[in-house]
Amino acid sequence: MDHYAVIGNPIGHSKSPQIHSLFARQTGQDLVYEAILAPPDDFAGTLRRLVAQGYRGFSITVPFKHQAFAVADRLSERARRAGAVNTLQVTPDGLFGDNTDGAGLVNALQAVPGVTLAGARILLLGAGGAVRGVLAPLLAEHPASLHVANRTPEKASTLARDFADLGPVSGGGLDGLEGRHFDLVINGTAAGLNDQVPDLPDGLLTPGGGCYDMMYGDNPTAFVRWGQSQGAGWTRDGLGMLVAQAAEAFALWRGCQPDTGPVMAALRPET
Ligand code: ATR
Repeated sequence: MDHYAVIGNPIGHSKSPQIHSLFARQTGQDLVYEAILAPPDDFAGTLRRLVAQGYRGFSITVPFKHQAFAVADRLSERARRAGAVNTLQVTPDGLFGDNTDGAGLVNALQAVPGVTLAGARILLLGAGGAVRGVLAPLLAEHPASLHVANRTPEKASTLARDFADLGPVSGGGLDGLEGRHFDLVINGTAAGLNDQVPDLPDGLLTPGGGCYDMMYGDNPTAFVRWGQSQGAGWTRDGLGMLVAQAAEAFALWRGCQPDTGPVMAALRPET
């Protein structure tokens, strides 16, 4: 039986084993998928031992996505652009590194009824690794504009420069948002870890516009609550992105695309 694992630190609360078990059952694939805790200073050693034991692939989560990028022997173009790897595949030519986070976000957004990314004015909040990872796949959907706004404006401007060849992307600070309007606001900041939202002006959302939080939780996140308070047409947290990025990894490893809908329903029966 083929073995796979998610590697992170911490890893105890990871939903990935449950998600991949559901995918395996749904597609009739015979595999084992575990959660493995790696010490902060020994990701590479942990990975080497697991590869030697015959593991076929890995999901990589916080804080190891940059180290996974560094140890991969080959990279997908989207991983190269992201500067981070969330999926490793053991191949005869070594470790292939991919990044399925951006595709996961795009798929999760497209699963929202009525949402079209083509022609949309999108605001992306934050300028860390999470945002870098989703810029190329978002721009590939041909939004009218994609504006990156960050508490530290220079980081957003740098990102906009790095991705300018891929589409209409701009960058700046949060204080430059006053008076602007967007069809979709995506939160890629870490503010939600402290149950906070970035400091945003009222009236950013066009009528019917949506709010997507890349973070998720058992209760509505701070950003989802912000969206509701702003009269958003719809709000979603990042559980859909988590399931969809896992589906992309599963497809890479197993050559078949699982259906994310039933897995979402199993993880959050009330929705
Ligand atoms: P990740 O890899 O998860 O993106 P990161 O690289 O540490 O994590 O980036 C965290 C992002 O959240 C940054 O854009 C950060 O803003 P700064 O670049 O100004 O630090 C943003 N962030 C964190 N806490 C925030 C808060 N309370 N308000 C607004 N932005 C916040």
